[in-house]
Amino acid sequence: MGDAEGNVVLLAGGSGLTGGCTLEALLDATDVSRVLAVSRRPLGGEHPRLANRIVQFDRLESQLKGSSCQVAMCCLGTTLRKAGSQERFRAVDVMLTNFHLPRSTLFMLVSAFSGLDTMRRAYAHAIETGYRFYSYGDACLLFPAAADDKTRIE
Ligand SMILES: NC(=O)c1ccc[n+]([C@@H]2O[C@H](COP(=O)([O-])OP(=O)(O)OC[C@H]3O[C@@H](n4cnc5c(N)ncnc54)[C@H](OP(=O)(O)O)[C@@H]3O)[C@@H](O)[C@H]2O)c1
Repeated sequence: MGDAEGNVVLLAGGSGLTGGCTLEALLDATDVSRVLAVSRRPLGGEHPRLANRIVQFDRLESQLKGSSCQVAMCCLGTTLRKAGSQERFRAVDVMLTNFHLPRSTLFMLVSAFSGLDTMRRAYAHAIETGYRFYSYGDACLLFPAAADDKTRIE
């Protein structure tokens, strides 16, 4: 990531499984100067390079006004059961992710979000034009399918 002096990493989801592991790795990394962890409840534990800010995620933009970072990492996630309602489950407005293996649960995830037809077209385009797949490959920014999109996997 370059010079440790200016390497601030914003982390969302530090209270979860993947976010907790990510936080540990970031605090161990010598090239990270500060971790700004945003969460809806205190993370617990202290570290000289950790700043834990309690936020309301639906007001994140205004609550983080004036803050800056070099890298932003998002480890948020939920299930329909945990979220409690379709409306709360569908609160996510965009998703940034890699290109995943066909027939994988992650391909199901993106199809549930953006619709199967859209994802098939996007992946066909990615294969045709030589995008890199899997964890260290290219990323795609996805938008939710319209509510009446019948190809959205439920
Ligand atoms: N576990 C894995 O092996 C794995 C592997 C690859 C990718 N992933 C992906 O990583 C993401 C997180 O998975 P996980 O296993 O770490 O889940 P997890 O342990 O349940 O953690 C979920 C995180 O999201 C936060 N969160 C959930 N709903 C929220 C909401 N409405 N507003 C704000 N924060 C909310 C939780 O905060 P609270 O603590 O406040 O509830 C927690 O920090 C998922 O998208 C998952 O698909 C997981």
